[in-house]
Amino acid sequence: MAAARPLSQSSRTLIARRLLPSDRGIVRQWLSDPSLQRAMEDERMTKAEIERRIRHYERSDPFADEWGSYLLEMGLEPVGMIHFMWINWTSRNAEVDTFIGPQKFRDSLSTLGFRIFLKAAEIAFDQFGLNKVYAFVYGSNLRTLQAHKRLMTLEARLKNYVKREDGYEDAYVFGMLAHEYRESMRARNIRA
Ligand SMILES: CC(C)(COP(=O)(O)OP(=O)(O)OC[C@H]1O[C@@H](n2cnc3c(N)ncnc32)[C@H](O)[C@@H]1OP(=O)(O)O)[C@@H](O)C(=O)NCCC(=O)NCCS
Repeated sequence: MAAARPLSQSSRTLIARRLLPSDRGIVRQWLSDPSLQRAMEDERMTKAEIERRIRHYERSDPFADEWGSYLLEMGLEPVGMIHFMWINWTSRNAEVDTFIGPQKFRDSLSTLGFRIFLKAAEIAFDQFGLNKVYAFVYGSNLRTLQAHKRLMTLEARLKNYVKREDGYEDAYVFGMLAHEYRESMRARNIRA
């Protein structure tokens, strides 16, 4: 596990809430960003796919099906999303995707990304009572790979996982167990 580092001094609490129809504009803008699409998707998304995805986010109900989507706000500003997929209530695991929406935050050296991971872990382990979360990150996504190493363990490399215009790209699988999250919180002296 990587060494602890101080959290951002920002006093603006990060909150996770469900997506509302009034959020469609901002989420549409984020999902249309080619660099975010390349980071998150196997293929470019069409406008119709983006609309379908947004409706899917809005309808998602982690307790009724296998999906759970949350919009993240800092102050009242929307800053990103957490998306749980394939929630398995028997084995108590799920895949998680996280992203920072506004480019200005994705380029900055704030600790927003780390705080988003903590929020995702809090929802997964403290609210859902899951035992494991895992995430897929593409090999060209160096910053996101680095960010995942902060809190999660690299468990697998899927070679030539996705076809791009310029050849095949690897995907890395990261995992985190509930007890690892709690130990990490204790080591960092962070209270959920
Ligand atoms: C995943 C995400 C939310 C993390 O946020 P973040 O702001 O990048 O996270 P952090 O600032 O905590 O960590 C970034 C790390 O990458 C490092 N970094 C920054 N730019 C880098 C680069 N070009 N190459 C390699 N490392 C880089 C930072 O120094 C930091 O490392 P450190 O913690 O060892 O200092 C954000 O990167 C994102 O939205 N990515 C695009 C969407 C995505 O790929 N989501 C994951 C799919 S599951």
